[in-house]
Amino acid sequence: MTHVPSPNFADLDWWRRSVVYQVYPRSFHDGNGDGTGDLLGMSHALGYLASLGVDAVWVSPWYPSPMADGGYDVSDYCDIDPRYGTLDDAALFVNEAHGLGLRVFIDLVPNHASSAHPLFQAALAAAPGSPEREMFIFRDGKGDDGDVPPTNWGALFGGSAWERVVEADGTPGQWYCHMFAPEQPDWNWENPAVVELFDGIVRFWLDRGIDGIRIDVADSMAKNQNFPDTPTDPKTGYGTTAKFQGHPYWDQPGVEQIHRRWRAIADSYAGSRLGSRIFVSEAHMSPAERLVRYVAPGRLHTTFNFDHLWCEWSGPSQRAMIDTILRVHADVDAPATWVIGNHDTTRVVTRYGKPETGWRFVADGVHPDDALKFAEYFAPLPTDVALGRRRARAAALLEFALPGVAYIYQGEELGLPEVEDLPVESLQDPTWERSGHTIRGRDGCRVPLPWSGERPPYGFGPGNEQPWLPQPADWADLTIAAQTGVPGSHLELYRAALAERHRNPALGDGTLTWDDSAPEVLSFTREPGFRCIVNYGDEVVPIPGNNRLILASSDVSAGIPRDTAVWLSV
Ligand code: NOJ
Repeated sequence: MTHVPSPNFADLDWWRRSVVYQVYPRSFHDGNGDGTGDLLGMSHALGYLASLGVDAVWVSPWYPSPMADGGYDVSDYCDIDPRYGTLDDAALFVNEAHGLGLRVFIDLVPNHASSAHPLFQAALAAAPGSPEREMFIFRDGKGDDGDVPPTNWGALFGGSAWERVVEADGTPGQWYCHMFAPEQPDWNWENPAVVELFDGIVRFWLDRGIDGIRIDVADSMAKNQNFPDTPTDPKTGYGTTAKFQGHPYWDQPGVEQIHRRWRAIADSYAGSRLGSRIFVSEAHMSPAERLVRYVAPGRLHTTFNFDHLWCEWSGPSQRAMIDTILRVHADVDAPATWVIGNHDTTRVVTRYGKPETGWRFVADGVHPDDALKFAEYFAPLPTDVALGRRRARAAALLEFALPGVAYIYQGEELGLPEVEDLPVESLQDPTWERSGHTIRGRDGCRVPLPWSGERPPYGFGPGNEQPWLPQPADWADLTIAAQTGVPGSHLELYRAALAERHRNPALGDGTLTWDDSAPEVLSFTREPGFRCIVNYGDEVVPIPGNNRLILASSDVSAGIPRDTAVWLSV
């Protein structure tokens, strides 16, 4: 039986226990048959999402964009990219989603625009020191000719974080700051006009019935106005992007004011028909005590807990991570937000199928602040896909049993692996070019979803148009159609778990109590009457005698074997 959530917009606390499904619109479902996903396809797929049992859909940027960074380069914050549809299509999508009881989140990209944004084009055309230039971060270069960048800052996609412009008279001129690609100039958040511009953007979408806003790089907008250099990263020769405390463009005091301002705007909508409107912060930050400052009272509602995503697959590591996250969130009365995949990271099936699955890489010198490059460290390692899929199933049952909010990245419910062998000529992630063809980037987790059929395009669109990234030839068994109604399939495990999560009053927001267990076993209870056990070790764990099995991630007829999770009724 599938669960269709009931629209209960009167519940102001809905966001404390939601399951949110991330749609990467380019790759989700193509309604018009041009090989790129779109709003028509998304609308057609709402029935699928409702029957999956999620509560909300987060749509990665859908704005007009030259796609230098897959839509995270926005050229108009109050419109829809014509490849995806129109504002009317978006309104229809939101209405239809609400009709099915699904909330809709969008993605706000406040750190940077696209270089095609009219305000950036105006800044380029205007003179140094003009109000137009003040919307972005322009500075004179150093050296006699001004040909040395204002600081040594490195960009996250590689190279310098500064790009020099050609002035109106044809001479080399000022430099502008871009923490990501040169096509993504950073807004100047010191300028009240920028603050007001974004107030208007937030209201624009809340007025259109958007329930939640994911804030892209929520820790980056404010920059240290002294523009100090950062210690050189020997790997790149530029200033480090690693988030040490006091770094001039990460987690500066100014971001708190921006968050509080947006929170006040969202709170002013609480009395509307849809009730609470909420934020989720995207900020890779450690330690967790530092991260939860972002969800302190009066600030944002939720923040992705990437320690979950980067945690290695081992009992002691997972338990320590969960303990810390629950403790620090309880201190600020915010729900924890669990996430094992997104459009920036190696898919969970592949990650957990590697000989190294997480933190150990950090010990070897890779820091999760390098998240965008992290895929590269996994790529050379061999993958045992069957092992990874088995662990991913267990990880899903663990995630949905934990107190708080859970995110699903599209295709996670199908057990899709990372596509590690995309032909280089198909790669679109800016990292590929910016790294001088040394880092392939994130396209491998963005391959369009397989819906049905035996070969590409697997029903991605209505015709036979091949999608914007090629799909593997061996995905026929992974399509939604192939898994639907098949007992034991990845998809049916997700459906069963989400249906149970809605049914079972012990699941969602709340607390857990650890049971005594061996270090390689996690066992916890949640009231009333629910237990989750995950076995990471070699010893088979017996199912406690007085417990009734609700769900298992693999065969437990002889006890709970390695890499398996069970849900029990106590
Ligand atoms: C984080 C987004 O998730 C990623 O896809 C994007 O490239 C950067 N922010 C820059 O916007």
